[in-house]
Amino acid sequence: MSATTALPKDFLWGGAVAAHQLEGGWDAGGKGPSVVDVLTAGAHGVPRRITADVDPGEFYPNQVAADFYHRFREDIALFAEMGLKCFRTSIAWTRIFPRGDEAEPNEEGLRFYDELFDELLAHGIEPVITLSHFEMPLHLAREYGGFRSREVVGLFERFARVCFERYHTKVKYWMTFNEINNQMDTNALFLWTNSGVTIAPGENPTEVMYRAGHHELLASARAVAIGHEIDPSLQIGAMISHVPIYPFSCDPADMMAAVVANRARFFFPDVHVRGEYPRYALKEFERNGWDVGILEGDAAILAAGKVDYVGFSYYMSVTVKADAAKEADAADVVTGGLPGAVPNPHIEATEWGWPIDPVGLRYTLNVLYDRYQVRLFIVENGFGAVDTIAADGAIHDPERITYLREHIEQMALAVTQDGVELLGYTPWGIIDLVSFTTGEMKKRYGMIYVDRDNEGNGTLERRRKDSFEWFRRVIASGGAHL
Ligand code: BG6
Repeated sequence: MSATTALPKDFLWGGAVAAHQLEGGWDAGGKGPSVVDVLTAGAHGVPRRITADVDPGEFYPNQVAADFYHRFREDIALFAEMGLKCFRTSIAWTRIFPRGDEAEPNEEGLRFYDELFDELLAHGIEPVITLSHFEMPLHLAREYGGFRSREVVGLFERFARVCFERYHTKVKYWMTFNEINNQMDTNALFLWTNSGVTIAPGENPTEVMYRAGHHELLASARAVAIGHEIDPSLQIGAMISHVPIYPFSCDPADMMAAVVANRARFFFPDVHVRGEYPRYALKEFERNGWDVGILEGDAAILAAGKVDYVGFSYYMSVTVKADAAKEADAADVVTGGLPGAVPNPHIEATEWGWPIDPVGLRYTLNVLYDRYQVRLFIVENGFGAVDTIAADGAIHDPERITYLREHIEQMALAVTQDGVELLGYTPWGIIDLVSFTTGEMKKRYGMIYVDRDNEGNGTLERRRKDSFEWFRRVIASGGAHL
């Protein structure tokens, strides 16, 4: 028996997306503008710009995206054909609270997700839902400074409560904040999309990030507690980006550099899972004289809101060398602000410079499970690449299949050989969508092609790629056919 066929029978094979990258309909049904609705398109090496407001003269790729808002029934039929057991998406906060600080939610927005979840359930597909995937209301970012403001914790609690009350009978698996930890490198895009934060001249970005992060950790803990109060059967997880940091060599200095650098990966999940701040972080605050806004009573809130599981994305690993140039390049989304980052000579990269490391997934599953001893859920993994339509209309994507196959093999070893408890696997961008870091359509992850280009041209027609049939067989065979 191969490792994959020994996966649990109820293993959640699925697909993942985020509302803002797929839905479009940015101002439909009473939806308000979010922080991504003012993000222009970029490219590999060209950062996306954040405009002050929605400027009619600019092109904003997320505003139409793949138009899932109007086509979700057609798309869900394709997901069902593929045999997905679950589908991970997010709720656009601005459909429910268009400005973020209203007293009452927008019924039309709530109804949209009722219809979406009902359609999934009618096809036997379990919704897996992130409350906030990079898209807080623009109003909260502009008027409150995003999660800098403690008031936003209460506004997020209200949003979370409304969602849990409305959907708890339809959705069992939830996550609070998508990739809450990717802002650790203080990249301007991540601070904006994670926290609604921009840095003013003279401010220390790391201190501001920790303050916003503290508020998000409180908001997450409150959401977990509220969700459990409403329905104790809900499973509410964290969602982190895990890019493991390897030491370049066995030189003790490299080993220690990797331990210290990896704290940037572990800080947020340490608090989410343990319900308290790790001592290395408290020491860092003390050493730098930072006030990150921890008030009396916060420790109790964090302790009462520990997550049930850890969801994570895995795309790549990075490597550090103690004596490499210390300068960090925060604009580089791959090594993102990591001092001492060097290329790993054992690993190739994608066209967008993302290192491809399948063993790193088994490594990550082991590291996270050993550290936290809670169930894990791989809620993103995938291969962003250019796809071309052949003369006969087919889309051959063998590199994507190879990437996914090799990662699934390593995932299965972690479960069957190492004993990691894993809920499921939802490859990223099961259907083509707008790339988060670049705003491009041409960086495609999907097994379903969407006819739309970087400039917004195209019919939005859907087409099955070769990987569609391949993944259908993987799921149907319980992982035997790889
Ligand atoms: C993760 C995000 O960082 O990676 C997704 O949760 C994102 O939103 C995905 O799309 C892939 O990144 P990109 O930049 O290739 O779209």
